[in-house]
Amino acid sequence: MSKDAPLTPRAKVLRLGAIAAGLGFAAFALAFTAGWLPSRALSPSVIVNTQESGGIHAGFRRAHAKGLCVAGTFTSNGGLAGLSSAGVFGVGSVPVIGRLSTAGANPTAPDASSPVRSLALQFALPGGQQWRTAMNTPPVLPVGTPEKFHRQLQALAPDPATGKPDPARIAAFFAAHPESAEFRAWQAGNKPSSSFATTRYHSINAFVLVAPDGQRQAVRWAMVPDAMPEPLGAGPHEPDSLQREFAARVGSAPVRWAMEFTLAGPGDATADATRAWPESRQRIVAGVLEITEASEQETSACNGINFDPLVLPRGIEASDDPILAARSAAYAESLRRRAREHRQEAAP
Ligand code: HEM
Repeated sequence: MSKDAPLTPRAKVLRLGAIAAGLGFAAFALAFTAGWLPSRALSPSVIVNTQESGGIHAGFRRAHAKGLCVAGTFTSNGGLAGLSSAGVFGVGSVPVIGRLSTAGANPTAPDASSPVRSLALQFALPGGQQWRTAMNTPPVLPVGTPEKFHRQLQALAPDPATGKPDPARIAAFFAAHPESAEFRAWQAGNKPSSSFATTRYHSINAFVLVAPDGQRQAVRWAMVPDAMPEPLGAGPHEPDSLQREFAARVGSAPVRWAMEFTLAGPGDATADATRAWPESRQRIVAGVLEITEASEQETSACNGINFDPLVLPRGIEASDDPILAARSAAYAESLRRRAREHRQEAAP
């Protein structure tokens, strides 16, 4: 292959795995200095080991394993340009590569079985900078620290005796974590729609916009669907129902979401993703995401991308939420593992 020839998706996973080794160390160092590793017992590797407790699916992400690649553009209306110097918020369009997925480590789980859906995006900014974000359907998290997130993973892990999660253990976890009340209320009222396209996705964690004059504003964001949701219905649903529906939909017309930012007010917690901010907070629509292509993840560009929430352009910074550094380190560890498996598979 010539030096300038485009990389295949597999080659990208391999190359990114090598980069992940470096990034993983950097993320670990950042996590360490950010203070989220209270003891030597919790590391990105321990977290990802727990994510593998239902079995290892070689070559796949250790979370949100099942998904499809998408591509399109983000067109900014300039509405956030006064709050952030990021090039993505100037008036105009940038190309986007993304991934729609369902939560869980099993890449063959039926789409309709997952209560949580996700949208990850990589924006290519002017001047070669990138912004990556991975968003989920709930607006809040059940718990607010990496240690508790790890205990939640342990509580949700399959019981070795049955091969299934133990409802009593899950109930006990939630009872012991009253801060999960807002998440549980969302879960109880969540009515999944029949399409990825009519689902709303949230950043959940807070970030900080930095204005050209240095002013800082904490925000969260959400992708608000253009199309009206239809309920998923009782089924039966075929295993890849959401993926097929999306591919067919985008084949006939672009799929759009408005990107809506919520501005934190005085006293709103930025380091606690278990709590929503008041409904009365100011919201600004920054622009529209338009997806025009969908393709299988195994053969497409999104497979090699680590949608690390700390890949941020100038003008957007991490908040003090400790989950962010933990996510960054775990995503690098997951990429390192799946890249190694791709390498082994590719070896003669
Ligand atoms: C401490 C908390 C968390 C940990 C340890 C964690 C861990 C992971 C890991 C290991 C992956 C696989 C990464 C890869 O191989 O590329 C992943 C994927 C993902 N996570 Fe998280 N996660 C956390 C919290 C969150 C939160 C709060 C959100 C949503 C706001 C989120 C959204 C996603 C999404 C959308 C993906 C799939 C990205 C893609 O399509 O490649 N995660 N997570």
